[in-house]
Amino acid sequence: MRAVLLGAPGSGKGTQGERLSQQYGIPQVSTGDLLRAAVAAGSELGKQAKAAMDAGELVSDQIVIGIIRERLTQPDAAKGYILDGFPRNFTQAQALDEMLAALERPLQAIILLDVNFEVLMRRLTGRRTCQACGAIYNIYFSPPEVDHRCDKCNSDQLVQRSDDNEETISNRLRVYEAQTAPLVDYYEAQGKLYKVDGEDDITKIAKNIGQILETVR
Ligand code: AP5
Ligand code: MG
Repeated sequence: MRAVLLGAPGSGKGTQGERLSQQYGIPQVSTGDLLRAAVAAGSELGKQAKAAMDAGELVSDQIVIGIIRERLTQPDAAKGYILDGFPRNFTQAQALDEMLAALERPLQAIILLDVNFEVLMRRLTGRRTCQACGAIYNIYFSPPEVDHRCDKCNSDQLVQRSDDNEETISNRLRVYEAQTAPLVDYYEAQGKLYKVDGEDDITKIAKNIGQILETVR
């Protein structure tokens, strides 16, 4: 399965990506997660990416395309992958199409998670992520069973992402509208776009996506 989760910040790409990855036994490839890991490790790449991420701008195409090129050639991606947060503009989408055409393994489905902007702001300000295992929670919509404790790994490191402050969120949403939303037409023209109501509950959305993916497998 080679699929892309497309959607605004807070639309549920990470939440659904995690589920799909488990369901299909293929990796969820999130450029945001890979970039945050590079920033946390203090690598040269992380240093180059940090300013753009703090501002809610896109990191350079050269960096993210390089990351994806490398990640998709790892052995665990041979059976497929769920892309989360990539591509984010035309340059990235075209580079990905060219890369996959050369391998004769084109994308099979692009799932658009459709969510209203007002809902996104509340989801993002309420998000908490487990620093130990990456599980995603929301203090308003899907809190952990015990306050401040991860249901999955029991760690007490549930943190707010540094770009989940109102100012940066506003810019991330603007950048999405200007640079990423136009990809909807790009993939619609390829006949590969599937729209899902991203405001349903998490389990229902997962079921809907699962049904779509079964039709393209
Ligand atoms: P990235 O990490 O990709 O962030 P994003 O696109 O802003 O998306 P988020 O991770 O914020 O949201 P999500 O859609 O994953 O939602 P989630 O499932 O967590 O990118 C961060 C930065 O890295 C970018 O700003 C950029 O600087 C850089 N970057 C990354 N990729 C790049 C690229 N390709 N090119 C250039 N730069 C790049 O859910 C959000 C919250 O809602 C959670 O609390 C969750 O519990 C809750 N929730 C989810 N689904 C539901 C539901 N159905 N009902 C109720 N609550 C829900
Ligand atoms: Mg995410």
